Amino acid sequence: MKIFSGRANPELALGICHYLRHPLGKMTITNFPDGEIFCKIEENVRGHDVFLLQSTCQPINESVMELLIMIDCFRRASAKRISVVIPYFGYARQDRKDEGRVPITARLVANLIQNAGADRILTMDLHAAQIEGFFNIPVDHLNAGFVLDDYFRSLNHDPEEMVVVSPDAGSIKRALSHQNRLGCSLAIVDKRRSSAHDTLQANLTGASVEGKVAILFDDMISTGGSICGAAQMVKEAGAAKVYVSATHGVLCGNAVEKMNHAPIEEIVLTDTIPLTPERTPAHVKVLSVAPLLGEAIRRIHFNESVSCLFRFQS
Ligand code: R5P
Repeated sequence: MKIFSGRANPELALGICHYLRHPLGKMTITNFPDGEIFCKIEENVRGHDVFLLQSTCQPINESVMELLIMIDCFRRASAKRISVVIPYFGYARQDRKDEGRVPITARLVANLIQNAGADRILTMDLHAAQIEGFFNIPVDHLNAGFVLDDYFRSLNHDPEEMVVVSPDAGSIKRALSHQNRLGCSLAIVDKRRSSAHDTLQANLTGASVEGKVAILFDDMISTGGSICGAAQMVKEAGAAKVYVSATHGVLCGNAVEKMNHAPIEEIVLTDTIPLTPERTPAHVKVLSVAPLLGEAIRRIHFNESVSCLFRFQS
């Protein structure tokens, strides 16, 4: 087994290697003066079981292209099998034609990765689970929800005093899983989206949040509009404390500024996307998914079951 990383999330790659007690493979990735990407593997990979780590996060097009070039590089270097580990799969929100004359870019990216030479995919909390079906190669789709729930349990709030809040209708299934695991009640925000930048929170239904510790779970926080709008609505409905949590901290535009001004006790994210200093909100807790991904990589390499990780305890 050999593990290599692109430039999108080297810290997570080191965390995975630390968990596996396995060295990170040596490779050089640089840009030519005109921006073209060049990579060279600095050790023999012929006949090896290779795991290539790259979150397709910002700068997203650079990360995607770098991943494709790496896959091509390993294929031409005669790796036996190339498993692509994509902790954050960018472009996932473009997963269907919801109006005329628009692309399905998530499918396009899946095709590109597969055609470049990937043999299998390991990913986490896809925006829409059906994206798995965009690939014709095996996909292992992990859930960071258990890692997030472990943290909220460690805060020792009485479940009777907690309410899980779904920030929109699309997140209800995820919220239900958290509600079951945390043993508390559930409320739902009715979110309407007017554009990629603007959302409107219309109603709050379900359990009362008055005097309660509310925890909002989403798959990602991008501009922060959805989660900050929902946090504001929940606070105005009388919640004592509002936590927000997501697997992927995309945090683009003025998301950090919005979050710093929202009535949020703490923002709980994972490290699928690295937080640069300018993309770090004031009250943030980052949990590592390196053990979860590392364990999945170990199991894939040794042909052991990965499904038991769907109930992973960190
Ligand atoms: C929407 O369906 C997603 O689950 C997220 O709620 C959304 O993508 C977050 O985007 P933003 O932070 O820009 O509102």
